[in-house]
Amino acid sequence: MKVTVFGIGYVGLVQAAVLASVGHDVVCVDIDASKVEELKKGNIPIYEPGLTPLVQETYKNGQLNFTIDAKLGVTHGEVQFIAVGTPPDEDGSADLKYVLAVAETIATHMNEPKIIIDKSTVPVGTADKVSAKISAVLSSRNENITFNVVSNPEFLKEGAAVSDCMKPDRIVVGTSNEHARDVMRELYAPFNRNHDRMIFMDVRSAELTKYAANCMLATKISFMNEMSNLAELLGADIEAVRHGIGSDSRIGYQFIYPGCGYGGSCFPKDVQALVRTAHGIDYKPALLEAVESVNYAQKQKLFNNLNTYFKGNLAGKIIAVWGLSFKPQTDDMREASAMVLMESLWQAGAKVQAYDPEAMEECQRIYGVRDDLALVGTKESALNGADALVICTEWSQFRAPDFELISQSLNHKIIVDGRNLYDPKLLKQRGFAYYGIGRGDSVSKS
Ligand SMILES: NC(=O)c1ccc[n+]([C@@H]2O[C@H](COP(=O)([O-])OP(=O)(O)OC[C@H]3O[C@@H](n4cnc5c(N)ncnc54)[C@H](O)[C@@H]3O)[C@@H](O)[C@H]2O)c1
Repeated sequence: MKVTVFGIGYVGLVQAAVLASVGHDVVCVDIDASKVEELKKGNIPIYEPGLTPLVQETYKNGQLNFTIDAKLGVTHGEVQFIAVGTPPDEDGSADLKYVLAVAETIATHMNEPKIIIDKSTVPVGTADKVSAKISAVLSSRNENITFNVVSNPEFLKEGAAVSDCMKPDRIVVGTSNEHARDVMRELYAPFNRNHDRMIFMDVRSAELTKYAANCMLATKISFMNEMSNLAELLGADIEAVRHGIGSDSRIGYQFIYPGCGYGGSCFPKDVQALVRTAHGIDYKPALLEAVESVNYAQKQKLFNNLNTYFKGNLAGKIIAVWGLSFKPQTDDMREASAMVLMESLWQAGAKVQAYDPEAMEECQRIYGVRDDLALVGTKESALNGADALVICTEWSQFRAPDFELISQSLNHKIIVDGRNLYDPKLLKQRGFAYYGIGRGDSVSKS
């Protein structure tokens, strides 16, 4: 099938490459000319396991192409994906200006029937807005071309995006149109061979399904973080509690890790957006509001623990930070807990010496060059001359470090572990002040 994807970000690029890899003829359109140029040279703008060879190969064999020429993109595809960003507006609701701009572009250039697929995460009612925009432009052109707007939210996880798209748990499609249904079946048939993964529903339910999924996952995290705070105050160990509840098959072990708060490009903005949607229809989403506020407090925890240990005296201190991305296997730092920590440290007059296996370029791009930020080449060099070590991201290379070296390198033997990577008892024996999350044996009480 001829497919066009608007927006070459995490979602658009991965989806496009995966569709191209099974034989679809895919053109990607973006407004960022330098991104398009780099992609044509084989330079992939994001780190995602397995993505680089997939993009390079499909581009080389002509299945995947990149352009800034929107007209060419619209003319190409029978199906037109909208996979642009939906960042939070000033009030937290999803900003639809990029989505609607693409809708306008499609309507301006289309000369034959199209199926327009909302792949971006968009609030309930967006497909109607996209339809209205396209109808308005078509009527201003005195054209009466058939089109269908389908909701097809994306559930990929950064860090495992390629395999998630290759073998999706489910493919949710919101449409009430028979033809659109058939086209979506054909488009996804290569990913649907083992068993039927397609779940058809009405458009509004599909739009809400995406928010419900992300809000449920964010709720699990905030729930565990709340339990971890109680565990600290009650002298219990959240890790024991985690095992204790995860063994219940109704609860399960997935997504119940306590930590220093959720980040990323999806959970924070999607919870916020659904809260705003609820407010807009005079409903108070008490649970979602609590999920947000627990997460906000949790993200302050790393700084609060350091501040407690140094008795409010962080000015001039050098803090080693391991991990900058919001989770392992990605270079994405959007809403990362490390950002909250670093910004609080700078406010308090401390310096940061940080290492991340993939996100240092991104960190440099966000913060630029500054005297109080040193990005160093190894986790060990981050320790040189540092006063304390903080772990923000659970990259596997941080799991079994050389504690002797850490002990010798740090001016103060303190580790603040936002991911519960270490055993509090062992670290205590080695003479460390260890602040985990919700560990009965750690010193954390903030
Ligand atoms: N990142 C994830 O893990 C993830 C997972 C599921 C769903 N989503 C959702 O998918 C959507 C895209 O997210 P992302 O992380 O890929 O975004 P992103 O910011 O990485 O990429 C968006 C891209 O769209 C481009 N763009 C903006 N306006 C455009 C236009 N008019 N025409 C063509 N291109 C345009 C931008 O230049 C950019 O390259 C969001 O709604 C997000 O919530 C993201």
